[in-house]
Amino acid sequence: MSNFYTEKVLAVRHWNDTLFSFRTTRDDGLRFRNGEFIMIGLPVNGKPLLRAYSIASANYDPELEFYSIKVQDGPLTSRLQHLKEGDEIIVGRKPTGTLVLDNLENGRNLYLLSTGTGLAPFAGLIRDPEIYGRYDKVILTHGCRFVSELAYGEKLVKSVLEDEFLGEDAREKLLYYPTVTREAFRNTGRLTELMQSGKIYEDLGLAPLSAEEDRAMICGSPHMLADLKTMLLEAGFVEGNHGEAGQFVVEKAFVEK
Ligand code: A2P
Repeated sequence: MSNFYTEKVLAVRHWNDTLFSFRTTRDDGLRFRNGEFIMIGLPVNGKPLLRAYSIASANYDPELEFYSIKVQDGPLTSRLQHLKEGDEIIVGRKPTGTLVLDNLENGRNLYLLSTGTGLAPFAGLIRDPEIYGRYDKVILTHGCRFVSELAYGEKLVKSVLEDEFLGEDAREKLLYYPTVTREAFRNTGRLTELMQSGKIYEDLGLAPLSAEEDRAMICGSPHMLADLKTMLLEAGFVEGNHGEAGQFVVEKAFVEK
């Protein structure tokens, strides 16, 4: 048996010059937990060229969705960005990852802290009904340099709030906090600064972050992960891992394409 599935591209959407998303068919045999990632790619010179991608669709979705940057000289994304409906991609058979609800304790508020394409695993997680059963509020944060980079997340949140099955829970519990660092927007500044100053909690009308009560998942660039992890450890949070649930979990956004 091959290590890969071959899937067909069903739709491609470009969000701006640097970001796009696409949907593919999904093999019936592929099972994953919301928040996991998988290897995907294209054959190049007869060999599969693969990179890790978070799965942005929910695990009950009959199709797969991925959210990607476009890097003009990136070995894979320079090719992937030209995908068209009907093209084929390679999808690995072994989803994995730490950003899963099983690795987190229950709690009051769950912070999904993302920058850039680090949003992708949370796209599946906020479509998981279990998340609304486990937390009072689910706060999806998304830090980006420019307003145009927020488009995918804005549409995602709108679709969840309007969803026939999830909408009622999401309208009660899901809070969305986009923030932009390099141009004007209603929220500006890095997530780290907004948390340190307390501004994010004031804006959302929530109690400040507490290790006893709150939980967090982090996905972004290596610097962002390091800074947020340090902040949470200093605040007394314990990191969760496979087999041992904790108060926060971390995974780098897979952007080096
Ligand atoms: P900034 O514009 O101040 O660098 P990137 O595209 O470099 O991954 O950045 C995505 C977003 O994450 C940007 O808004 C960027 O802010 C922000 N960012 C970069 N490094 C950190 C960090 N260490 N902590 C929090 N946010 C960060």
